[in-house]
Amino acid sequence: MDLIRYAEAEVIARDGVSAATFGDLYREAPPWEIGRPQPEVVRLESAGLFRGTILDIGCGTGENAIFLASKGYQVCAIDFVPQVIALARSNARARNLSVDFASCDALEFAPEGRSFDTLLDCATFHTFSDRQRVAYTKTLYALSRPNARLHLICFSELEDRVGGPRRVSIREIANAFGEQWDVLSVRPSRYLATWAADGMRAWTAELQRR
Ligand SMILES: C[S@@+](CC[C@H](N)C(=O)[O-])C[C@H]1O[C@@H](n2cnc3c(N)ncnc32)[C@H](O)[C@@H]1O
Repeated sequence: MDLIRYAEAEVIARDGVSAATFGDLYREAPPWEIGRPQPEVVRLESAGLFRGTILDIGCGTGENAIFLASKGYQVCAIDFVPQVIALARSNARARNLSVDFASCDALEFAPEGRSFDTLLDCATFHTFSDRQRVAYTKTLYALSRPNARLHLICFSELEDRVGGPRRVSIREIANAFGEQWDVLSVRPSRYLATWAADGMRAWTAELQRR
């Protein structure tokens, strides 16, 4: 697993993390594959913060999307690593749950005639380069309905353990999304990983599309 390349924040800031690199990371179980939904996603759901149609961006093995489907939501979930989408589909099938999984690049995702009420980005944004962030926020705007909510969970700059993706500050979140989204709240949270059972320090931001 090329964790070194994956972990260099300045390289990610310049180049992002390619589908090929993620594909390599998925050859073994990557650290974010915890075999259950992220507790932060469970918490958001139990607080009633998901509504309408949901898009899960960078869904990995689908644990969060499958959890939301189990709660009765209509969920579309995308990832640009085809083999992880195949795994997510078989995970959903094994649990007899229906999720609309698609293998595609979030920066280019433009399903005709479809838009979403709630978007979930659980540990995807912090893998984008500076340039990709600009493309991403435009794509999310196009994919969402007016007043749609985006729940963004990303590593915080307060996390000082070495390794993993970019760290993100509250200011960076506001700068990236500020033109088209209102930042309703940002609060500290934890993102669980197999290398950090207590979780990495993260932000959970709630944004509303204008
Ligand atoms: C750190 S993992 C998080 C997976 C999942 N959301 C979770 O929390 O378990 C980031 C995921 O985003 C996907 N990803 C990164 N960039 C992407 C892009 N441009 N389009 C689609 N998926 C992307 C990766 O393949 C990976 O599965």
